[in-house]
Amino acid sequence: MTVTIDRQGEIATVTVDNPPVNALSAALRQGLWDAVATLDADASVAAVVLVCAGRTFIAGADVTEFGKPPVPPHLPDLVDRIEAAAKPWVAAIHGSALGGGLEVAMGCRFRVAVPDAWLGLPEVGLGIVPGAGGTVRTPRLLGVPAAVDLVTSGRPLRAAQAAEAGLVDAVVQGDLLEGAVAFARLALTRPLPQPVSTRPIAAPDADFWAEQEKAVAKSARGAAAPLRALACLRKAAEADFADAMAFERQTFLDLRGSEQAAALRHVFFAERAAPRPAALRDVEPLPLRRAAVIGGGTMGAGIAAALRDAGLPVVLVERDDEAVARGMANLRGIFDGAVRRGKLTGAQAEDRLAGVTGTTDYAALADTDLVIEAVFEEIGVKRAVFDRLAEACRPDAVLATNTSYLDPRAIAKGLPGPERFIGLHFFSPANVMKLLEIVPVPQTSDRTLATGFALARALKKIPVRAGICEGFIGNRILKRYRTAAEALVRQGVAIAEIDAAMRGHGFAMGPFEAQDLGGLDIAYLQREGARAAGQAVPETLGDLLVRAGRKGQKTGGGWYDYAPGERRPQPSAIVADLLAGSVDPGPAMDRKAIAAHLVAEMAAEGQAILDQGIAQTPAEIDLVEIHGYGFPRWRGGPMFATGIRG
Ligand code: 3HC
Ligand code: NAI
Repeated sequence: MTVTIDRQGEIATVTVDNPPVNALSAALRQGLWDAVATLDADASVAAVVLVCAGRTFIAGADVTEFGKPPVPPHLPDLVDRIEAAAKPWVAAIHGSALGGGLEVAMGCRFRVAVPDAWLGLPEVGLGIVPGAGGTVRTPRLLGVPAAVDLVTSGRPLRAAQAAEAGLVDAVVQGDLLEGAVAFARLALTRPLPQPVSTRPIAAPDADFWAEQEKAVAKSARGAAAPLRALACLRKAAEADFADAMAFERQTFLDLRGSEQAAALRHVFFAERAAPRPAALRDVEPLPLRRAAVIGGGTMGAGIAAALRDAGLPVVLVERDDEAVARGMANLRGIFDGAVRRGKLTGAQAEDRLAGVTGTTDYAALADTDLVIEAVFEEIGVKRAVFDRLAEACRPDAVLATNTSYLDPRAIAKGLPGPERFIGLHFFSPANVMKLLEIVPVPQTSDRTLATGFALARALKKIPVRAGICEGFIGNRILKRYRTAAEALVRQGVAIAEIDAAMRGHGFAMGPFEAQDLGGLDIAYLQREGARAAGQAVPETLGDLLVRAGRKGQKTGGGWYDYAPGERRPQPSAIVADLLAGSVDPGPAMDRKAIAAHLVAEMAAEGQAILDQGIAQTPAEIDLVEIHGYGFPRWRGGPMFATGIRG
């Protein structure tokens, strides 16, 4: 860690260099503290530019210090010290100014940023609130409504949005340091603005806060930090600066030691470890320049969209011209949807689509680096596709299957060069869901495996390596979860009570309403297939419903009834009749007990998965559940939540 002082005439520059992300360790805080003293004492200095080396401005407090007692100088004191410096400081921002980094920048008299910089307060995502004036200075700079949005969502702003909101004074085109020094010189020719802490706040009325509380509680789904952050903002608007700072600090310290904060830190570090497994550190992946997808259905189109979002040209192979047209229409639907939601401009959507070549001709795959197969879940169909790929592709091209339940070893059987084969299990919708299970077969080479991880990084997905078993990690736990939920129904617990219990626990949906949305028939057909192959698969309650024509929302009913055109589940008398013979009432269970039981079942399956070497660590199982199945992030995943850690 270094803090270096240079001078360009009357402007001093303070350069922070604390790789990898200039986090505010105790040593860095001390270095900045000392720099203020040195520069205050130097009569030749009129203003100071604070700039960072490496890929980013200060990215926040040092998260690795959070489990330990705070060491002085404390961050709020450092920010106050910079704000009270005898010379005005200008924060020159590139990369990300996040959390404590933005708080330091708000202690400066001015903030300038390059156009692709991000500024934000992501603390609520770590289960805490800003702890160095973030909730007290933002309303003074941005006004209360914009500050509420920034702080309670944790979502950062781009430089231009930040400038519009008042968080940044100028966007610098060209060289940042040069631009910041020029900005400082110009600023010295004008009256200085007041330090942020002394600026007034227009306090909203009680109705505003009541409304915000409702909205924040709804989107937090049980996470504590967003509401606590809102309370800090209210204090900032209604009390004086010193009282608001004390309130914020106390809230920060309370939350820092909380179980939710520990869980969210666990997820933070697990997410950062996942894309770069230690075992593959020295393995060079194959360069990914051109990709192909076989099958343009639900998954194939989603995977192709994800590849295009990452900038890769894509060939989409279908079985006949009609299917090519359907696949391309599926893709258009995805990109049009992104335009409707404001995620893409019309021109960007056209460009994404123009980068996809739809064809029935495998010759188009001659120079492809990676092919992902997403055709029907039938071994014969998949084997035939891989025979064609073996003929058409370069011998070093990575060949991947997106199978959900088939054994990848059976798909790869007889493939020339099986070292290039791998399972890449995406989740639906594949262009949205973050999880990617990476499933090597015994012959898969390290290079192919490393290419799978490189793909995940390119697609900004969370990769988890999974061993081979039915359903890999995620669907195997899902099956146990559903079986356990059905067992509760057999004991007389109401379907709607179970769903409400899991929503109360922080899931967006309970297990039964989720099945109604996705359709009960897929799992049913899989069970029927296994039965036809001679396996002893016990009859499920879901089987009874599908046989009665109840496949979910798409048939107007599944576990629940749905009024035409409506998605609100209504408890069903027909289902009660259908299942009556299978229910043998047991002791009553409250919602807390239901959720605890079902999470324990997930964790027990996770433990079995670990014992069999299907997953490497409990943290990876937690990532699968959080990013593939909507497990509440602030609980850390089923393993963390039940005390299985590592
Ligand atoms: N503290 C400690 N280590 C951190 C860190 C932090 N705040 N942020 C990132 N790191 C580490 C990562 O663990 C990783 O370590 P590794 O190389 O050993 O695995 C390394 O820095 C690089 O991180 P990324 O892989 O995430 O790097 P990227 O370039 O992809 O992203 C980033 C950079 C956008 C800055 C991203 O790291 C990030 O979002 N970091 C978190 C920022 C954050 O949450 N800040 C707020 C902290 S809380 C706070 O400030 C409280 C205050 O109000 C008092
Ligand atoms: P789908 O039925 O929507 O699409 C399959 C597509 O493959 C169809 O467009 C079909 O025309 C095409 N196809 C069939 N045979 C072909 C061939 N020989 N050559 C080229 N194209 C061919 O199915 P879906 O849901 O997209 O599933 C595809 C695969 O992804 C399956 O293996 C499935 O198990 C898996 N999967 C599905 C998930 C889901 O949620 N739907 C999630 C994860 C994996």
